[in-house]
This record gives sequence, C-alpha cells and structure tokens, in this order.
Amino acid sequence: VAVAALVTGTGLTVAPDGVPDVPHDHGYRDARTVGEPTRRFTLTAGTATVRVGGRDVAAWAFDAQVPGPELTATVGDVVEVTLRNRDIGRGVTLHWHGYDVPNSQDGVPGVTQAAVLPGQEFVYRFRADQAGTYWYHTHSVSDVGVRMGLYGVLVVRPGPMTGLDVTVPVHTLGGRPLPAPRTERVEAGTPVRLRLINTDSTTHRYALAGTAFRVAAIDGFDLRGPTSLVDTAVLIPAGGRYDLVFNAPATPVALFVDGRVVYSTGEVSTATTTWPVLDPLHYGVASPAPWSRIDRKFTLVLDRGLDLHELLPRYAHTVNGAADPDIPPQVVRLGDIVRFTIVNRAQVVHPWHLHGQHVLVLSRDGKPASGSPLWLDSFDVRPGEVWEVAFRADNPGMWANHCHNLGHADAGMTLHLMVS
Ligand code: C2O
Ligand code: CU
Repeated sequence: VAVAALVTGTGLTVAPDGVPDVPHDHGYRDARTVGEPTRRFTLTAGTATVRVGGRDVAAWAFDAQVPGPELTATVGDVVEVTLRNRDIGRGVTLHWHGYDVPNSQDGVPGVTQAAVLPGQEFVYRFRADQAGTYWYHTHSVSDVGVRMGLYGVLVVRPGPMTGLDVTVPVHTLGGRPLPAPRTERVEAGTPVRLRLINTDSTTHRYALAGTAFRVAAIDGFDLRGPTSLVDTAVLIPAGGRYDLVFNAPATPVALFVDGRVVYSTGEVSTATTTWPVLDPLHYGVASPAPWSRIDRKFTLVLDRGLDLHELLPRYAHTVNGAADPDIPPQVVRLGDIVRFTIVNRAQVVHPWHLHGQHVLVLSRDGKPASGSPLWLDSFDVRPGEVWEVAFRADNPGMWANHCHNLGHADAGMTLHLMVS
C-alpha cells in the first residue's frame, strides 16, 4: 500500500492510505451548527491606561488589561466570545490567530464582517477542535490596534491539565517590553510546558537555560518524535508559537527573550544565551507527506515598490508587483491541494500568515524539509529566501493571506485566498 513516490521538485512523498490530510478534523464548517456554547467569554475593548515597567502607558485594551484576558478551553468545547466595543473609534474585531475557524468567525473587517464600532457588539462562536497555543487580536487597523494592546492568549488543552502550564506572550507596548519578568517556585520533577507566543511584528529569540527541553509543538501542532535540546535557542516569527516542555530539575531554569529573563524558577547564572538556533525544518522525525498531487500552484514574490494606484504614488510592500487592494485574489476549489512558492526579494523579513488553514512546509531554498512535518500558520521568509508550502484548501471562504509584520500588511502586503 505504502508506495513512496516523489512529486517533482518538492520532496513531497505519497503517504500510505489513511494518513489524514491535516492533523485536525475539519469536519464542521458552519458556525451556526456548532451547538450550544460550553465556554462563554465577554471581552470589552476600550481605551485604558496600563502600567508597564513602572510607567503609565496609554493603551487600547480588552477588559483594561494588556495582554487581554487569557481564554482557555478544552477540546470538544463550543466557545462563545461576545466582543463589545466601548470607545475604540476605529473599530475592533477578534481574529483567532492560527485557529482554523469557520470563515464567518475569522474577524477580518471588510471581508468576513464589519468592524465593531463603539457601542456595538459581535458574538463569535466556534468549536474547540484543535488543541494548542494560539492567540487573538483585533484585525481592524491591525497595525495600530495590536501595537496599542488589543490582543490576548487563546489556549486549548487536550484534556485536564497536568503539571505546570505557563503562557508567555511577548510584545511591546508604547515601546516597552512585556511581560514583566516572572518568577515562580517549581518542585523538582514537575512537568512544565512553556507556551511561547510572539505577538509582536518582528522575530524574537528565545533561550531556555538550566535544563534540557524539547519543542513539543509549533503553531499549535505537535511535532513527531522530538529530540532533546540543550543550549539551543529558538527564533519565533511574528505571530508564531512554540511549546517547550521539560521536567523541572532541582536547579533553577530561566527563559530569556532577546537576552532578557522573562520567566524563571530561581536565580540562573549563565555566561551566555547566544546559542545556536534550532532549525525547525530539520527537527524531529520525518513522516511521508500526505498528498500525491498538487492541483494549484501560485508564486508570491515579496518586494518593495511604487504603488501607482494611489492618488499620490507611495512606496508599498508588494506581492507580485502590486499592493493591497490591487493584488488579485488566489482562487481555488474546495479540496484542492495548493502550493505556494514564496520568494522574498526585499531587504527585510516578511513573516507570512495564511488564515483558515495551516500549511505544510515542503522546502526552503530548494532544500526539502527533513524533520517532523511542520504545519505552520506563521513563518519568517527572510531576505533572499524561497519557501515552498502546501495545504489542502478544505475551509471554504475568503481568507486573508498576508505579512504579519502588521505595518507591512497595512502598507500593501495583504492578499486573499478564495476557497469555494
Ligand atoms: Cu494574526 Cu491576519 O492575523
Ligand atoms: Cu512583511
């Protein structure tokens, strides 16, 4: 049964029968039929003053805090979130970053809903069918909105919690880093899961000192046969998440972000944390890719160029020479296996993010991914790099497909994928 054959140029192999196309069951699609909510939340967006590093900073916040309240659910829950906007004049929505919700719940103003204006509300509902680490944020003037603080953590657990489960969102507010360093005592032997979430628009470097660890999941997806790491750093792209797990040793452990301690279980003395960086494309144990065919291929060339469609020509971040809203949408049929080749011809990193479906990494710079299958929703395409990714378009609707440096997204680098 298990015939391995190569799809030209991609390193993609045919899987044995019965291997699922994606690690989640995408069996539901209609938000109206998800059933009665079992987890209900209300988030109220409003202007607020937030204390960061001993200073008062003007923010836009959910429930007057940055990050907003942490939303947690267990697989099988039906989650209902009522969003209210008190006084954010430019409107607010909730986008469930990395969560493949039905299109009507995706929170993209002008595409899946209208922005929620002051005094209005919108009710989101979706089934928690994917365990993992995610986050939510406004998608209305997203560059400003997220930078001002309209974001929070979404964690879906596979079952009852065991051990210690810590979320570490990293962001800046008013140019000041969040979160404040946090210390807690952890008994030796306790299994610890650190959920690292980069809610910022640029890449951050994370290093875990004082213990061996493994990367249990990236962008909410478990990795196959992970190996143990020591003195290794990870780079998390804008929007991306890594789950690191370890058993607490008797001696202290510390998590560094860009050389600064953000979480620790005691005083750690390390001479350096500028360790080699893990390449997730070659981490864990490979398994055959699920598809033997590719139905639709697109190339996205990322660059910077003059946008002549504006009244006054301006420099924009472009895809195939055009800037939003003038980039033609990619149109595919429901069920198509779609391949994107993403080429970065610019001088800056473009962290790519597709809504509504995760992509499987096939190759980078022509070199096939050789580790555990990587299903990502956020990945850094560095200057000069070429990424090949593929996915089964099994979630119908019009999906945003954009750079998650939100300044770039708002300055042209946004297009749409139409699945119907
Ligand atoms: Cu996290 Cu379209 O965004
Ligand atoms: Cu970009």
